[in-house]
Amino acid sequence: MHTKVYGHRGAMGEYPENTMLAFQKAVDAGVDGLEIDVHLTRDGEVIVIHDEHVDRTTDGSGAVKDMSFHTLRRLSAGCSFGTFEKYDPVMWGQERIPTLEEVMELVAHNDIDLNIELKTNVYEYEGIEEKVRDIVREYGYSDKVIYSSFHLPSLLRMQAIDPEARIAWLTSKVPLWPIDQMEELSLEALHVGYRSILKHPGRITGIEDRIRVWTVNEVWEAEKLLDHGVQTLMTNYPEKMMSLVERE
Ligand code: G3P
Ligand code: CA
Repeated sequence: MHTKVYGHRGAMGEYPENTMLAFQKAVDAGVDGLEIDVHLTRDGEVIVIHDEHVDRTTDGSGAVKDMSFHTLRRLSAGCSFGTFEKYDPVMWGQERIPTLEEVMELVAHNDIDLNIELKTNVYEYEGIEEKVRDIVREYGYSDKVIYSSFHLPSLLRMQAIDPEARIAWLTSKVPLWPIDQMEELSLEALHVGYRSILKHPGRITGIEDRIRVWTVNEVWEAEKLLDHGVQTLMTNYPEKMMSLVERE
């Protein structure tokens, strides 16, 4: 069994989340995949940012859906993280909100998985599923992309427009009968809050390889999850978690 580690928003424990810097650092640590969040700008560009608004992670203000790509691109995506130990005002200050294409370039170049979380649970962003699918297809990367969302209609839409799409439902708590849920919705996997697995490890018996957990940042917790058969860990600290995997 090969444990997989995905860098959550890149390596957000140590670098500015969802930036090319954080993604590159996760790649440098040797991750098997990246987890990113996508939204749609007013003029229809798929960009990589966690929140619906830019206020927390950039030096700007406003909702992504109301802003043009040009305006968003002028913001710094790194300068809000001045309390981080590794903060470098010059280097981090230059980080921009990435496009999905930029992340595709990086993952394709390094031949690693990409988990695209469709952040459609607040605003539905009409047409985002088609745009994301088209970009992934442009790179011929459908095999290594996993779509996830808390918002089920978005996943169903992705299934409808791309029957080959790999779909995972995001949930904080592991369902009572996860296998039923996966069959009913034709899900490849469930992406589950790791604490719920620690609480109910029996619920994933037999389907351990179809569970990916978020977001585990402590080695002792990761070790417990591996003991329960979990095979894919999403973490904010890829470097630390990779050392755990290397000890296997
Ligand atoms: O994909 C798992 C995790 O990223 C979901 O929560 O809020 O970090 O996007 P959040
Ligand atoms: Ca996410």
